[in-house]
Amino acid sequence: MPASPADRLEITFASLKEKRAEVLGLVVGEGPQFPPIAKQLDDDGDGVLSRAVEAAAFKAKAKSSVEILAPTGLKEKRVVLIGSGDAEGAEENDWVMLGGVVGSKLGAANAKTASLVVEIDGEAKLPEHEVAAAIALGAYLRGYKFDKYITKKESDEDGAKDRRFVKLVVHCSDPKKAEKSFASRKAIGDGVMLARDLVNEPANVLGPVEFAERAEALKGVGVEVEVLDVKEIKKKKMGALLAVAQGSSRPARVVVMRWNGGKKSEAPIAFIGKGVVFDTGGISIKPSAGMEDMKGDMGGAACVVGLMYALAGRKAKVNAVGLIGCVENMPSGDAMRPGDIVTSMSGQTIEVLNTDAEGRLVLADVMHYAQERFEPQMMVDLATLTGAIMVALGKSYAGLFCNNDELAEGILGASEATGEKTWRMPLDKAFHKMIDSKNADVKNLGGRWGGACTAAAFLERFVLDKDTPWAHIDLAGTAMDAPKNEINQSWGSGWGVRLLDRLVADRYEG
Ligand code: BES
Ligand code: MN
Ligand code: ZN
Repeated sequence: MPASPADRLEITFASLKEKRAEVLGLVVGEGPQFPPIAKQLDDDGDGVLSRAVEAAAFKAKAKSSVEILAPTGLKEKRVVLIGSGDAEGAEENDWVMLGGVVGSKLGAANAKTASLVVEIDGEAKLPEHEVAAAIALGAYLRGYKFDKYITKKESDEDGAKDRRFVKLVVHCSDPKKAEKSFASRKAIGDGVMLARDLVNEPANVLGPVEFAERAEALKGVGVEVEVLDVKEIKKKKMGALLAVAQGSSRPARVVVMRWNGGKKSEAPIAFIGKGVVFDTGGISIKPSAGMEDMKGDMGGAACVVGLMYALAGRKAKVNAVGLIGCVENMPSGDAMRPGDIVTSMSGQTIEVLNTDAEGRLVLADVMHYAQERFEPQMMVDLATLTGAIMVALGKSYAGLFCNNDELAEGILGASEATGEKTWRMPLDKAFHKMIDSKNADVKNLGGRWGGACTAAAFLERFVLDKDTPWAHIDLAGTAMDAPKNEINQSWGSGWGVRLLDRLVADRYEG
């Protein structure tokens, strides 16, 4: 697998002395406070930058900007002043978001290459090379576009192919150090964009088999990957997952990814993803309006694949396993019916009252398998599991259900650090009561209220050892069609890769 597809923004680092492109961005401290190169340009151009600042009443507040076109006396075609706000208080994520603004402003400049000057004095919390690298990550992510199926690109029409933004050169005082700092961030960025690609891809192209193949490509970055086919899945008695898959003509796959970056003796951490490549609802079919969005019902699995890529790409010092269940939920003559009772790998029987509550059936088996095989020290599952989580939290928070306060704090802390927000939701006996079945051990439907909570309670029944810290993240609202922001303009957001990468870095790397 190439480190990143050819259409990703190329990012390089250069010294402050090196020749700059005609499109130039300058990071300016609040005030505005011109760094040395900006001062020099202002002098060279007889105050052309100062005049623009005054005319625009530019205070260089965070993420604000001023563009000066064809400045008199300078050879630049366009100079963009980008406010950093108060550099002293800015954290990593503030710089990443600022990088998104940089990517947007310089990307809109009709040029192939742009330069950005990052000169930060000693006041900032992060050293300058890390600031430069964080900004670069933001620009890298902002540059993402899912346009592979648009055969008539704008650029073809007006012959402007050459004006597509392809390269950003970040100038700073220690480009070598900055480049090194960027390497791990680039791996994370590539993981995020891999997840976005998977979510955006339509289901006719990305069936369970194809999804598994995309995951298999992680071998290229040193991840061990096994793909279980239907025969093997049957042998493992994953009756719940198979019940979902049986309505589709496209066979199921379970993918096991392993990254061994930690000590041999150390138990792995496990990530489990719901990979429903398309969710029609099955026989309990969904209404047609908006059903197209269900191509993103593999957002949890996409996040796990993107995360494994990121961990391997930055050679994380951790043992991590990623397991995903890839199926399609279709109505057909072979589909499961409401009222069917299926036997999960754990041995627990499940009464299927609604075939549209399929994600929990898939996860039940994959979670069980992950625990039985790997005895992980911690486990996080990710799933676009319920519409109810969006009713509760909207589309900028994911729901966090967790049986362990320390793990929950770790995830909430990682949310704080990355801006990928989670909100803790309850696990409670009351919700278990709602999924007790008269005819089987458990039913897959909890009734009218607390739909996200009964879904989480269902999953809790498949936690083998109650002492294993386990978190369930319901990302139905955030994985797709979430509010656009500085670093994401895509329908598929790649949500969760940065969050979990941070959790791993903060809590699980030796
Ligand atoms: N994949 C859906 C949840 C979903 C809905 C994700 C909208 C993203 C956007 C899930 O499989 C589902 O259909 N859940 C049902 C559960 C219900 C039948 C208990 C739901 O939320 O309506
Ligand atoms: Mn469903
Ligand atoms: Zn679903």
